[in-house]
Amino acid sequence: MSSTVLRKAYERWQSGVRTPGRMPDNGSIAPAEEIELGALLGIPLGAVEDYAALASRIELVMQNEVQRALVVAAAARRGGASTVAVGLASTLAATGRSPILLVDGNLRDPILHRKFQVPREPGLADLARGAVKAADIVHPTAVPNLNFVAVGSETKVPQAFYQQPPFREILDAWAREYSYVIIDSAPFTGVADPINLAQAATGVLLVVEAGRTVREVAAETTEELRRAGIRVLGAVLNRRRFYIPDWIYRRV
Ligand SMILES: Nc1ncnc2c1ncn2[C@@H]1O[C@H](COP(=O)(O)OP(=O)(O)O)[C@@H](O)[C@H]1O
Ligand SMILES: [Mg+2]
Repeated sequence: MSSTVLRKAYERWQSGVRTPGRMPDNGSIAPAEEIELGALLGIPLGAVEDYAALASRIELVMQNEVQRALVVAAAARRGGASTVAVGLASTLAATGRSPILLVDGNLRDPILHRKFQVPREPGLADLARGAVKAADIVHPTAVPNLNFVAVGSETKVPQAFYQQPPFREILDAWAREYSYVIIDSAPFTGVADPINLAQAATGVLLVVEAGRTVREVAAETTEELRRAGIRVLGAVLNRRRFYIPDWIYRRV
């Protein structure tokens, strides 16, 4: 996979060739017709290559999986899970040829519906309750091949939500329909729902914030996930202050 598509689109965007409509200067994402690919998702130009590399690695580690449902979660609050989930899902979608589904699975602090400028409900929680049909909650987005599902109405007992059979059935159906299901999650801070969500999925992409998430917390979280039978398929070091050449990275 190459990052050329994204880079070209960003260059167009930066050079001022803009389609009329709302612009994502506040980090939000406008509906499909209104913007061109270059405005996608508020990924900073400097991060395009990083997302392309991340998407390639995820494709590599997941290529032989039957179900490709990836949970993106941080080791601590505000570590950058939602940011990385959007960036990864849109990069996979914009550079691939098959449909991707991004799901807001953060029952505690959902924000993606605001980024995509769609209502919070109906969404995942309403589908699990049987109140709506799957087709009614999937939104197309500005990025070709990227579809989005909001979190839905408030869940009274979030700890139990991901253990219930309806969610697993929903996830299985989505995994058959989409080449990747990327699920934005609440952080692993000792509550049960992110763990249950990760157990129902193929694996986890752990987002670690440089400088803030101390090494011990990241190591403890990884160990806890392994004990719970969860596969950590990768880790992202978010908000790096300094550019680290790729060859050094591979040795860390
Ligand atoms: N690499 C980054 N550079 C700059 N700002 C970031 C970066 N990652 C996250 N942020 C900002 O930090 C805040 C928290 O990020 P978010 O992705 O919502 O974290 P989480 O989902 O883990 O709570 C948001 O305002 C987001 O825009
Ligand atoms: Mg979040």
